[in-house]
Amino acid sequence: MIFASWLFTTRDTFFRKGTMRCALRRSPSNVMTAHENKTALPLVHLGITRPEELSALFADLRGSFDADCASAHDESSWKQFRDAWLGRKSGVLTQITDNWLKPATLELKRAVGASLNELRAHVESQIEARRAAIESGSEKTALASERIDLSLPGVIRPIGSQHLIRQVFQEIEDIFFSIGFSVVEGPEIETPYYNFEALNIPEFHPVRDDMDTFYLDLPKGAKTPLLLRTHTSPMQIRTMEKQKPPVRVIVPGKVYRRDNPDATHSFAFHQIEGLAVDTDITFCDFTGTIEYFVKQFFGPSVKTRFRPSYFPFTEPSVEFDVSCPFCGGTGTASGGGTCSKCKGAAWIELFGAGMVDPAVYGFVNYDAKKVSGFAFGIGIDRLAMLKYGIDDIQVFFQNDVRFLRQFP
Ligand code: FA5
Repeated sequence: MIFASWLFTTRDTFFRKGTMRCALRRSPSNVMTAHENKTALPLVHLGITRPEELSALFADLRGSFDADCASAHDESSWKQFRDAWLGRKSGVLTQITDNWLKPATLELKRAVGASLNELRAHVESQIEARRAAIESGSEKTALASERIDLSLPGVIRPIGSQHLIRQVFQEIEDIFFSIGFSVVEGPEIETPYYNFEALNIPEFHPVRDDMDTFYLDLPKGAKTPLLLRTHTSPMQIRTMEKQKPPVRVIVPGKVYRRDNPDATHSFAFHQIEGLAVDTDITFCDFTGTIEYFVKQFFGPSVKTRFRPSYFPFTEPSVEFDVSCPFCGGTGTASGGGTCSKCKGAAWIELFGAGMVDPAVYGFVNYDAKKVSGFAFGIGIDRLAMLKYGIDDIQVFFQNDVRFLRQFP
């Protein structure tokens, strides 16, 4: 691209004007020969002595500028073009000032100054306009390449659904909401006090062996050991510490035990704790509440039974069984033979429960003579396995979409 093209006049023109001498001048992209450079010469050397001769000279110059301007199409060529015309040392306008204006005769000076000002105004405004045009042009190109084609099909992201365990939590919560319970949640990292002692499980109590516990590695000097809660029962204590009777809460959450994984054991699993304490709660309230829940959850045809059991924090304690929902409580599979789910027992153990041991009230400043209540702790994973006929607890934790999709 040739800028300041006006500087390249034909030999003919030059010869006509009788110009002979000038300094070498380098344009941005071209080396000029001496006789071609008009602005390097004083006007008198161009044969101009009268003001009226200037207009053709400046018109010629302006035409060249316009041609240069039109050929600047991108940022780098625009810069070359700008420097060729406005460069402080050797731009065309500087040359005119130095070589035409300064040495001009008094007669010419005013006219040269006026024409130069006019030309300068034109040059500056056009250079700026060109810059803006190039900029918006490149923006347009960029926009065009980045434009989103709204007619293209979008990325279809599969919509997830709640995990079956979460669904079962919800189902159980809804049942207990309907009879006046509310939900509370508690920490998964606990102190031995809440997980054991305040539940009437002192150190070296054999029950601690059944709940093989994960302890946290703490820095030396830590005030108290910390552990991953082995059941949701610590929330019985935390709730009663905060709240005076009446209390009716359920506590859904994750719990942890150092159990080896198999079809019915996982080292992390889920429980829902239940606690009701008031001044007049009886064993009948307890059995009625539990039976109501089980029939809502498994259907009205299941039968229930209590068996004596033992937990340090309930007295009396029970294990709660339901008639096997798979064989209808017969112990025999539909195709004959022993039911594989209840192993022919006709009953399936559901969860542990009992009336709150009065010793526990002592840890929370409740008056054991005035209050009574019941508590239960349901293993949610096994409950879900029972209800949905799942024979391996591990599938809950493997996140295999083929399994998850069966419970949308
Ligand atoms: C308890 O955890 C008592 N806190 C329950 C309780 C609460 C009793 C309130 C009385 C009053 P247990 O250790 O039996 O109890 O566990 C309760 C349920 O957790 C079991 O019935 C079983 O369904 C489930 N469970 C226990 N260990 C595992 C395991 N490793 N993997 C999956 N589920 C488990």
